[in-house]
Amino acid sequence: MSTQSQYSTAVVDGMQFLFGEGFLSPGGPREIFRIFGGQSLAGCKVLDWGCGVGGATIALATELGADEVIGIDLEAASLDAAQALARTNGVGDQVAFQLVDSGAAPFADNTFDVIFSKEAICHIDDKVAVFKDIFRLLKPGGSFIGSDWVTAGPDPQPPEVQAFFDQLSAAGLHFRFVTADEHRSTFEASGFRDILLSEDHQQTLEEARATYERVRGDARDRLTRELGAAGYAAFAARTGVRTAAIECGGFYRCHMRAIKEAHKLQEPTSS
Ligand SMILES: C[S@@+](CC[C@H](N)C(=O)[O-])C[C@H]1O[C@@H](n2cnc3c(N)ncnc32)[C@H](O)[C@@H]1O
Repeated sequence: MSTQSQYSTAVVDGMQFLFGEGFLSPGGPREIFRIFGGQSLAGCKVLDWGCGVGGATIALATELGADEVIGIDLEAASLDAAQALARTNGVGDQVAFQLVDSGAAPFADNTFDVIFSKEAICHIDDKVAVFKDIFRLLKPGGSFIGSDWVTAGPDPQPPEVQAFFDQLSAAGLHFRFVTADEHRSTFEASGFRDILLSEDHQQTLEEARATYERVRGDARDRLTRELGAAGYAAFAARTGVRTAAIECGGFYRCHMRAIKEAHKLQEPTSS
């Protein structure tokens, strides 16, 4: 199955400007550390599902000590940038990237100790199919650990959130955002146990406000030089709409954990 590219160079550059080199979502390496609660990944083989330009994939090795990390994504240009960044960070041998299509990931059952995904599942219409595939790829006892954007409630969304979603569609990005409760049901339907979902609204809000302030402050001159006056005005307006969606409380980031239970041995039958 082939998949059409959604992340143009302009979108990727704009997102990296907002979120830092290697990141298409907010928080940088510190947020990766928070998602894992500081847990070490030493000895683990890890998959980064929807790795984008690889900032988080690299942090899983450099900050959390994973032995081996494979980042997968649909976007060839993003993966080229990710590979170059891994070499620059001196982890070219430990971290690899692989182009996939939107079907099942091309790995054998029971391959990974941990599967990570940051703000990528929100693109998917059929989330049960993806979580079932993630479940298949995990070793028994392995964990899914990640985060995703969620809405506070089902449709219709508050006007601030809908305005942001309209803006994402106008940029050519397809998403299907759900509530944290829907994510829980999806994990359950895919076979996971010990599901933990924790709202991360305050941190998301602080990051969004800080970014918007930077766009209107320190970064204004640089952005105006790069984008021109009209381009800067549009970029600042888009950042403002995003911040308003988060400020109204209807849209935030959710940390997620779930376990693929190890098989239980059957009790011997007494004769
Ligand atoms: C918002 S970006 C986040 C990227 C990265 N996780 C980060 O936090 O910087 C979402 C990524 O998910 C990828 N993606 C969307 N659907 C995918 C799929 N079916 N399989 C793999 N990657 C996918 C997109 O191409 C994009 O790079």
